[in-house]
Amino acid sequence: MKQKKGIICPLFYVSGFMLNDLENLKKAALTKISEASSEEVLRAAEIEFLGRKGKLTEILRGLKDLPAAEKGKVGKASNEIKTEIEQAIIDKTKELESAKFDELAESEWIDPTQPGQEAPRGTLHPLTQFVREAEKVFERMGFAVATGPQIEDDFHNFEALNIPADHPARDSQDTLFLENSDGKLLRTQTSSVQIRWMKDREPPFRIVAPGRVFRKDDFDASHSPMFHQLEGLVVDEDISLANMKAVMEEAVRQLINPEAKFRFRTSYFPFVEPGLEMDMSCTICGGKGCPVCKKTGWIEIVGCGLVHPNVLKNVDVDPDKWSGFAFGFGLDRMVMLRHEIKDLRLLFENDLRFLRQF
Ligand code: PHE
Repeated sequence: MKQKKGIICPLFYVSGFMLNDLENLKKAALTKISEASSEEVLRAAEIEFLGRKGKLTEILRGLKDLPAAEKGKVGKASNEIKTEIEQAIIDKTKELESAKFDELAESEWIDPTQPGQEAPRGTLHPLTQFVREAEKVFERMGFAVATGPQIEDDFHNFEALNIPADHPARDSQDTLFLENSDGKLLRTQTSSVQIRWMKDREPPFRIVAPGRVFRKDDFDASHSPMFHQLEGLVVDEDISLANMKAVMEEAVRQLINPEAKFRFRTSYFPFVEPGLEMDMSCTICGGKGCPVCKKTGWIEIVGCGLVHPNVLKNVDVDPDKWSGFAFGFGLDRMVMLRHEIKDLRLLFENDLRFLRQF
């Protein structure tokens, strides 16, 4: 339009020319808009025609140079075209948007009826399962469940259990002593929990204490420097070996094998008198003899006996009034017997192929 300034021409021509120009502009704009393949292209078209320096804006700016009679005509036409172009842009924007959603719906299609992805589920370790069952069995017989620290002191692990510093029984229970800890050690037996429980309470006592223990030992098919015990302690009036035998046999029958047979042999532990070991018939060979029971048909599972009077004295319980029994099940061995596991190391290797079977 600028070059038209100053050209002397008849007014009808001016307006006719401009109307024609506007018509072409509209066609060009509408074609560009309808052909726009993306939002960017559409925005560019909007700027080209309606922007501050856009083509239509330029025409509108030229209006002021027209004679009043023409101004109205051309102005009206320009405004109509502007509205038309604006509407076309709005429509096209919607069209592009809905195309985008259609595309998304196609590419991000989900089937809500498809079965979900299964989250892998863990199971309790066979030892943990066994401990929990054992706790239930003993709770039904009136026992409470007690725990004690794995880092123990000499008093609870040895001294109070009638194992003074020079006692040879310490040799078979060598363990790790912690540096700068006032002689703290990794406990070698859950019997330490007997002491902890009794020294703060008044009899009668009836507890079991499951837990981890540590000893200097090999790591092979039947040994581990870390293993698990379940301690039992009953202190009451008139407790005898008959009570002990009944409780222990009942627990093992419920936990491992209702048909199991038992045998008691005399043994020695400084904190019981008399001391015994209980064997059960080998569940793997049914008592016939196999490598697991070393061809004897019997497997030792627990040390036990009547609580030594010195132990009761050490925790201020009067041995003339109270008596009791104690036992220490070897949990790992019992789990092996129950599931017929032939190598102890399988319990500690965390191989999922093994653990998933329980
Ligand atoms: N604490 C003994 C051990 O570790 C087992 C035991 C417990 C024996 C209680 C008798 C009484 O071998």
